[in-house]
Amino acid sequence: MSKGRILVTGGTGYIGSHTTVELINSGYDVVIIDNLSNSNREVLEGIKSITGIMPDFVEADCTDLDALTGLFEKYPGIKGIINFAASKAVGESMQKPVLYYRNNLNTLMNLLDIMPDYGVKGLVFSSSCTVYGEPDVNPVTEKSPIKKATSPYGNTKQISEEIITDVINAGAPFKSIILRYFNPVGAHPSAEIGELPNGVPQNLIPYLTQTAIGIRKELSVFGNDYDTPDGSCIRDFINVVDLAKAHVIAIERMLNDKSDAPIEIFNLGTGKGLSVLQLIDAFERATEVKVPHKIVGRRSGDIEKVWADPSYANEVLGWKAETPIEDTMVSAWNWQKKLRERGIM
Ligand code: UD1
Repeated sequence: MSKGRILVTGGTGYIGSHTTVELINSGYDVVIIDNLSNSNREVLEGIKSITGIMPDFVEADCTDLDALTGLFEKYPGIKGIINFAASKAVGESMQKPVLYYRNNLNTLMNLLDIMPDYGVKGLVFSSSCTVYGEPDVNPVTEKSPIKKATSPYGNTKQISEEIITDVINAGAPFKSIILRYFNPVGAHPSAEIGELPNGVPQNLIPYLTQTAIGIRKELSVFGNDYDTPDGSCIRDFINVVDLAKAHVIAIERMLNDKSDAPIEIFNLGTGKGLSVLQLIDAFERATEVKVPHKIVGRRSGDIEKVWADPSYANEVLGWKAETPIEDTMVSAWNWQKKLRERGIM
């Protein structure tokens, strides 16, 4: 028996596809809406090959309220929404701020608008550790100060959190859980789904695996003069499947009326900071593949160090990041090799 229908916006994207798999494996029916701006239909086949079930799919943009309404009419009884549909490249957001504000905020507002009309009980929102900016103290808890956003992308996350809070405080007939991700990495262990960036990757792991397989000549390490033990930046790299599982717990918490408050916020990280150089080393040890790399200057806008205190999520959600970083690196590498086998990269 199905546990009910969940709408996953941006469900063919990186975190959305992994979350769809975990929802299906937990007994939910999933409808995906995605405009395929940064993903493709083959992801649906990947989801099917892992779960045996092809999720329902609507190709449309969440900024299009008519399209969303059509979806809710076609798929009645949606109980919860997990909102991944958003533009997410920090650099691009500096060049195209209007695009970022429009995509990320209009999507959210359309969802908030339509939820009461169709009796949706809960919204999970993808936020980011970017809301903490450069923290004064690590690890960061959910109570750490929110710093002024350094990019329009980061600002859309902060504004979105505020919008959801205002809507809930105004007495909305639904609940929300905001999840602040640290740095999601890796791929499904089956190598059927993973991260597939368009063009030259901006993020560390896709650039690293593309270098390891020979698509890129060399990985540039942005800075070794930070105030960290080896001089490179420190992040909290969280396995994408571990991350996906937290979304299922969050949805269930709201649908089963277990939330402690109508709006709750959780950090999703491992609690361990790893430097960029340590991550490269972990990849090389786990896969026995060398990654040509060189130290270059700092990338503007980078945070020196940030990692999570995930104890609130550990205690309240009963969720914990479990996958060792070595296994995560192997999964990223297997996914890169699978892309090569399929002739995609
Ligand atoms: C950024 C955003 C985060 C967002 C994430 C994914 C901020 C502060 N962070 O994270 O909110 O969720 O992108 O879109 O806005 N690095 C290299 N060489 C490379 C690439 C990266 O050395 O070729 C280093 C970076 O300098 C950084 C680390 O690797 O120290 C991680 O970078 P990246 O994967 O781009 O993620 P963040 O910038 O941490």
